[in-house]
Amino acid sequence: MTVSARAYREALPLFVVALLALGLPIAGLADEHRITGEGPGAFIVEDGKVDPDTYEGYLVYTRACMACHGPDGMGSSFAPNLIRAVERRGWENFAGTIASGREVQPGQVMPSFADDPYVMGNIPKIFSYMRARGEGGLGRGRPQIIESMQQQDDESEAEGEKGEEKDKAAEGANAE
Ligand code: HEC
Repeated sequence: MTVSARAYREALPLFVVALLALGLPIAGLADEHRITGEGPGAFIVEDGKVDPDTYEGYLVYTRACMACHGPDGMGSSFAPNLIRAVERRGWENFAGTIASGREVQPGQVMPSFADDPYVMGNIPKIFSYMRARGEGGLGRGRPQIIESMQQQDDESEAEGEKGEEKDKAAEGANAE
């Protein structure tokens, strides 16, 4: 037996198990599982992994919104499912609600995040994450970043620190 044949035989069961776990058909793997959305809240979902902005959206959501809206955007007894809200209402309504807050049912308050630069600066990424969950079919839990996009992200994060401070200064100036 050649080395490569053995490697193949050893790797094959793992490969099949991975496919079954993802619920994918064995044939036609290649491009079919890359789902992208354009425009505000653009996203890429590829075999359960996402682009860095969508991943960031998951993190921001989890820190700032999950306590009321439930894990992974699914809603709670207190606040609605945001995956459905994004599908029904679109970008402007979504961003507007976060900026101004809302109280339709007395006592069930969606706070305004207008004074929270961290949330305000990341609304497009939260939107990406919600679209990825809906249109993109992304599953629950913390997603991984698509490997080929990972490196890029590390580099831009190093630069991003400075960028973020500039963003904050700019936002402060706008608020006045
Ligand atoms: C303190 C709890 C709380 C937090 C934190 C919170 N929300 Fe809400 N949110 C609500 C409630 C309650 C509603 C329903 C308000 C209503 O319609 O009367 C709501 C409604 C919304 C809606 C409108 C949903 C629809 O069906 O149209 C959006 C969009 C939304 N929230 C986004 C967010 C995002 C994004 C975050 C995090 C940055 C967030 N919310 C954080 C409580 C919260």
